[in-house]
Amino acid sequence: MAPDVKSYWQNYIDGAFVDGGAGRLTVDDPATGEPLAEQALADAADVNRAVAAAKRCHESGALTVMRPVERGRMVRAIGQYLLDRIDTIAPIHTLESGKPLWESRIEIEGAARYFEYYGNQAETLEGRSIPLGGGYLDFTLLEPYGVSAQIIPWNYPLEMTARSLSAGLATGNCCVVKTPELDPLANGFIAEAVEAVGFPAGAANILCGLGPDAGAALASHPDIDQMVFTGSVATGISIATAAAQNVVPCVLELGGKSAAVVYPDCDVDNLIENVRWGIYFNAGQVCSAMSRVVVHRSIHDEVVDGIVEMAKDITVGPGIDQPEFGATMGAMISEKQRDRAAGMVQEAERDGATLATGGHKLNRPGFFLEPTVFTNVAPDMTIAREEVFGPVLSVLTFDTDEEAIQVANGTDYGLVGGVFTRDLDRATTTAQRLRAGQVFVNEWYAGGVETPFGGYGKSGYGREKGREALLNYVQTKNVAIRTN
Ligand code: NAI
Ligand code: MG
Repeated sequence: MAPDVKSYWQNYIDGAFVDGGAGRLTVDDPATGEPLAEQALADAADVNRAVAAAKRCHESGALTVMRPVERGRMVRAIGQYLLDRIDTIAPIHTLESGKPLWESRIEIEGAARYFEYYGNQAETLEGRSIPLGGGYLDFTLLEPYGVSAQIIPWNYPLEMTARSLSAGLATGNCCVVKTPELDPLANGFIAEAVEAVGFPAGAANILCGLGPDAGAALASHPDIDQMVFTGSVATGISIATAAAQNVVPCVLELGGKSAAVVYPDCDVDNLIENVRWGIYFNAGQVCSAMSRVVVHRSIHDEVVDGIVEMAKDITVGPGIDQPEFGATMGAMISEKQRDRAAGMVQEAERDGATLATGGHKLNRPGFFLEPTVFTNVAPDMTIAREEVFGPVLSVLTFDTDEEAIQVANGTDYGLVGGVFTRDLDRATTTAQRLRAGQVFVNEWYAGGVETPFGGYGKSGYGREKGREALLNYVQTKNVAIRTN
């Protein structure tokens, strides 16, 4: 049974829950196509107020005079607030996003984990002292930039807000978060948490608005000091351009067309299970999805048979009916995204790829696409080069290890890559040669909040997660003292 969802959700600006200058947005349930709730829609004036509040809070020193461990405890408490309400938040997030209920729970746990990890890191960032010989004392300070602007995508809105907000607050920045217009609701709980754990007004502002309106206003605001964006390459370029105009550093986490290289000696059962996670988790709407399998010709048929059987076994339907962890998939986020993916399926067929399974929209309300597998995919086809951002896998073949690397590296992207083999030499050689910010050996998504994540090539620059990410939120000040 569907839970009650509050009918109207406000933005959180300067420590208060407020309406939006641009009115209200209807958020729908992609499993039915029906309206779910309304969200306050920020305009540029709301963005101005949020940035001004963040700037005021920063300049007040409220976060920077605090002992870091105190900031860290508050950051961790945000995560605990979410975990304490997971049974409330998960169904709401499933209804707004389409993802299975069990996946919403994983997302909330993941979001809480970011607050835990970066909360714990708050007191570990240290400068160093640099010897200058007699007569000098020199040391560095790592200072927050000030106002951190964060634009969040719809595929993991809780985790992505958590990822940037936790690191931003832990380092003492005041943040303005623009949530995604397709599924902004669950972020309301993060706003509640910020308030409940005692952050001062302006430390974190969380608002929803349209990308070209509130999003663009935030990205180009003269009073932001640092910028984090996750989303499409095209929007990333416009954000980086706006940041450049204000000479503001920015972290870009863009898409991918990531490949798993599959050698003949791999554990095929393990591979198949990883393909399921890799391309059907969140219906393939994952920047680091395993959207290509590059398999040695000698085991191609065995691997394809296994993948097709696995794909056919996935239960597809409304995420709210999928409480149990398992082989299930929900709706895609919107009709537009589903139809875009379905259009790419048709184009791949026209280009001569073989549809091994799936490819169809489900004949029911809601924005569903079957788990899809293409074989006979050539490296120059659109389906092999462009991100589908849906449950669509392309299988390509290779004969030599050299060819495997060429094919895997043959796109403009470079977010992640994988290697499946029992041969340590092959695993390490391939890992070194893959052009990607993260390489997974024998387990797609191996790693965690602790491991640095980010792209080579058009997949972006800068790193999120891990210790590396903290350095995006601080600037180094050197203090050189003439002693005598
Ligand atoms: P998008 O990049 O336009 O949206 C992401 C965020 O950017 C949203 O919060 C949106 O409101 C905001 N935004 C949009 N235009 C903006 C602008 N001019 N200035 C500032 N902010 C702006 O992505 P979209 O259109 O929702 O999806 C299109 C494709 O992007 C997907 O098919 C997928 O390939 C890719 N994508 C990748 C993601 C990732 O995790 N790397 C996440 C979402 C989308
Ligand atoms: Mg929605």
